[in-house]
Amino acid sequence: MVPVLVVFSQSHVDFRIPEFEAICSMLSIRVKNMNSINTENHMFVLHFENRLDVTKLLSRSILIKFAISLSVEAQSYEQLFHELKNKPEVIENYDVPDESFALRFFAIGRKKKLDSIERIKMFLEAVQFNHAPICLISPVNEFYLVEEYDHPTDENPRKIFFGKLWGEGRSELKTKYNLRERCYIGNTTMDPELSFIQANLAMVQPGNLVFDPFVGTGGLILPAAEFGGYVMGTEINYQTARAKGRSSRQGVGERHESESIRANFEQYYTEDKLLSIVIADSSKHAIWSSNAKFDVIVADPPYGVREKARKTVKNKKSDANEDYIQYQQKEDYDLEAAFCDLLNLAAMTLVMNGRVSFWYPVILEKYCSENLPTHPAMELLSNCEQPLTRKTSRRLLSYRKVREPIANEECEIRKTGVSHYRDCLFSSNKKENC
Ligand SMILES: C[S@@+](CC[C@H](N)C(=O)[O-])C[C@H]1O[C@@H](n2cnc3c(N)ncnc32)[C@H](O)[C@@H]1O
Repeated sequence: MVPVLVVFSQSHVDFRIPEFEAICSMLSIRVKNMNSINTENHMFVLHFENRLDVTKLLSRSILIKFAISLSVEAQSYEQLFHELKNKPEVIENYDVPDESFALRFFAIGRKKKLDSIERIKMFLEAVQFNHAPICLISPVNEFYLVEEYDHPTDENPRKIFFGKLWGEGRSELKTKYNLRERCYIGNTTMDPELSFIQANLAMVQPGNLVFDPFVGTGGLILPAAEFGGYVMGTEINYQTARAKGRSSRQGVGERHESESIRANFEQYYTEDKLLSIVIADSSKHAIWSSNAKFDVIVADPPYGVREKARKTVKNKKSDANEDYIQYQQKEDYDLEAAFCDLLNLAAMTLVMNGRVSFWYPVILEKYCSENLPTHPAMELLSNCEQPLTRKTSRRLLSYRKVREPIANEECEIRKTGVSHYRDCLFSSNKKENC
């Protein structure tokens, strides 16, 4: 077993375990004590079956900050130095003239900032590097001294760890895909960090066919493409799908003609992964042949706050081209119906074991996990909460297709008030409906 100190981000803690489990399941990573991960602490010593698994995990995780190959774990500095004396190879293997090194200090669980320079000096006085030159900017070997505190006001750490940096997670992706610099965004473009976490929960793998039925500006399929999936989407709003009209950026006016969903993919060099954006109503499942199969579906259906759910109304004209849908009459799309349609679509079009992952708005007073949408062919894998306001949150629900649906089997959704989500959010005098 390989002992590794895994340090998690302290944000989106409710997504931590599901993201970790999804990546391990997707990449067949075995961790002996996976159950020790919780949401109260932020670092854990995990025992991996092999070294490659650690690298595979880091290659996908958004919520792991970094991982350290653990050499020594102690309850005091005295014990730490004693143990390092007994294991000289920990330092000697790297104390060579042509391999520079850096020592970083990191404390977790303490309120008051600690003097890291003082800690590093103290360590290097006790544990000497005689040959390796120090290099702080791009060292060949990067060591970590980590203190873990039980309580924010404690004077002494509960544990001290020392080891060599294995690598970092993929949190740099949230910076790379930041919305400020993205070519085309809309009012409801998904936050990049959450959209990458969603791609992990949906287990997008290279070569997968990934579909977003409510594609908007493509915020959910960009991460899927970054992870090697081939992506496509449907969007009912012509203006959104073709990046027309007024920009969502303050004071910019009309959108520039260079803005488009494709331009977003070009920006991140994944345009070869974008198959198609179809202007279509995703509630019309008949557009898919019975042979159509997706590996993954990701979605953020509109909850009616900044964007309304709409569906087309049947009329006499049958020529379903782009212009047609642009001017076709539309009506409000009940939220409960939209979520049922989405789960039915997933049961119908996903490959066996395929995943669907979608955001589901919740009125906190009404929330009860038994009321979430269910489908006999779909198993709920994870349910993570992102708080939104005092009264509301949204949950990222991820399901796996466990079998083909039998005729007439449909999604069930109990009356949770999700259809009144918007009313509940904006009205103080309509409380009785919420
Ligand atoms: C919350 S936004 C999705 C935002 C998207 N994830 C992004 O990052 O840009 C929901 C989108 O669904 C679209 N929509 C609403 N009803 C639809 C329908 N019946 N079929 C397809 N798209 C629909 C809306 O026009 C809107 O662009």
